[in-house]
Formats: sequence, structure tokens, C-alpha cells
Amino acid sequence: MPTLHTVKINASGAPSTTFECSSRESILQAGLRAGLPLRYKCTNGSCGECRSRLLSGTIESIQVADYPLSQQQRANGWFLSCTHAPLSPLQINTPLFSDSIEIPHQITRAKVKKIDLLQPDLALLTLRTSRSNTFQFLAGQEVLLSHLLATHRYPIASCPCNGMELDFHIHRSETDLFSQLLFSSLKKGEHVTLDGPRGHFLLNTQSQRRQIFIAWEYGFASIRSLIEQHISLEKEPPISLYWLSQHPPYLNNLARSWGAVLNHFDYQWIARHATPIESQVSKLVHQLRQELLVEQCDFYISAPAELLILLSEQLLALGVAEHQLRGAPLIDVSSDSISSES
Ligand code: FES
Repeated sequence: MPTLHTVKINASGAPSTTFECSSRESILQAGLRAGLPLRYKCTNGSCGECRSRLLSGTIESIQVADYPLSQQQRANGWFLSCTHAPLSPLQINTPLFSDSIEIPHQITRAKVKKIDLLQPDLALLTLRTSRSNTFQFLAGQEVLLSHLLATHRYPIASCPCNGMELDFHIHRSETDLFSQLLFSSLKKGEHVTLDGPRGHFLLNTQSQRRQIFIAWEYGFASIRSLIEQHISLEKEPPISLYWLSQHPPYLNNLARSWGAVLNHFDYQWIARHATPIESQVSKLVHQLRQELLVEQCDFYISAPAELLILLSEQLLALGVAEHQLRGAPLIDVSSDSISSES
């Protein structure tokens, strides 16, 4: 039976962090799932990027590693976090990125693993990198995808804990050549290039305020990544998800299922109608004020720029501080599609 152990990271210049790791799982994998910005590259013991130092506790190797650590280094506690699991509670020193800008720029080729239609004009694209060339990013970040001559920017909709498999929610758009290829000719097994990661739409993991996530239609992609990180971190602050969508949201059941794993989680689908953007925002703000003490919440908004700006202005006017607002503007959204039925 696998046993859960607490791993405490003492990083120089940063507050210590703890997470749970099973005795059958690599320390790197568990730390990434907990949303920690750990340094790594290959995940299979060949690059040495995850080199860490054991301060207390016992570990065991669960995978053969090619990266050479000298006997002297091993005797001083050095080990690879991607090939070791805990056998007791641990204290370790391991390299962390202190900010998203520290994550190295990567250009990686990945294969199309699957393309699933979520709605007639919305596809779930899953890409798979090779084991030795995974893609490192933080929840909420974006990447440029290229195939043939088409390139476009999309938020990553999956958890950073698995850099080998990345999900994207791609909406068919006339101004997005990549989406047209996806809906017409891109096939399983073909190659796509990932260039990134980019963006600072990140979870404030130190906040104790209620976390409010607002997604507009397929803006749910980056919100999904952030909520999954929040779940992994097992943080105390309650969270609410408001999903604005003309039709029942495409992953409605997933959003509902989070209620089963989170103690304090509210989810509401807000059916948006063909009304001017100002009235959509006013209606939403009215609802937020009735249900929340807005000035005591953090807001993460993934929506068209027009809506994002209006909503942010109204929240600021209600006493929400700038640092409590984080936004990711959706691109390729015409004003018409915001305020009219498609
Ligand atoms: S991530 Fe490459 S050796 Fe651990």
C-alpha cells in the first residue's frame, strides 16, 4: 500500500512550502501537481535540472537515472527529484522558479494525441510531447501553437503537473488560420510546435481571500487550469466559479463535479443573452454584490477585452484593489459575438 508523506521545501529567499507525496510517486511529480514552480526538464533522470538536496528523511530510487551524480554528491544528500519517492516525511532543498518570467522560453514539437469536438465550433486538442522534451509552464499561462504556416496563441487548459500532455480549447474562427486547419485537416499523429510559455494570469497562492473565477464561454480554458491548481494545493479560501455562456457550458459536468471534491465551492452558469455588453456586465456585477463581499475577494477573469475592462472598472469602483484583479483577455472575439446570438 502506498503511504502519503509530507515533503517540506526549504528554498533560499522564499517561504517554506509543504505538499503531500505518495511513496510510489516521484517527488517532482507530486510537487508539480501541487502547483509548485519546480525546475525540471526531462522528468526521467537524464538532464539533472531537478537536482535537489535531502536535509532530513529517507528516500528511495523508483526509476533508473542516467544523469551522473558523484559518490561525494550523493553522500552530501544530492538526488534527482524526478526519480525518487519519499519513505518518510522529508525536508529538502530544491530549485524553484520565483516568478513566471524565470521559466525558460521553450520551443518544443508535440504530436496531436486527439481532437474531440466539444461543440460544433469548439474542439479539445490534446498534444503529447516526447518524454525527454516536456513543456514547462504555470497554470493560467498561454503558448503559441504552429502548424504549417498557421500560428496562434491559446491558453493551456490542463494541469502543469503533466508537461507531456497539454490540452487546448480551440474555437473555430475566421481570423484564426490554426483553428481552420484544426477543424479541416489536422490529424492525430501530426506535429505541432509549441512556443512559450507566456503570460502572468497566475494564481495568487498566498492569498487568504475568497477566490472568484469568471469565465466567458471558452475563456474557461485558463480558468480550468487555475482551479485545478487551487484544488491540488488544497488551499483554505473558498472559491466560486461564474461561467457566462449562451448555451449550457461545454464542460458543465466537470464544473459541477468540483463541488464534490471541494468543501467550499460554488458554481453557477449564467446564461448570457443577446444584450449590449454594458447590460451583461451590470447584471453580473449586481449578482456578485448580492452574493459576495466583493472587496474581500480576488477575481480571475477570462473574457473578451471589452468585457474585462468594463467589469474591472466596476469592481474597482466597488472597492476591489488592483492587486485583487487578474485578467486574461480573449483574442479573436468580435463585438458582435459578445452582444449577439451566434
Ligand atoms: S527533470 Fe531531468 S533529471 Fe530530473
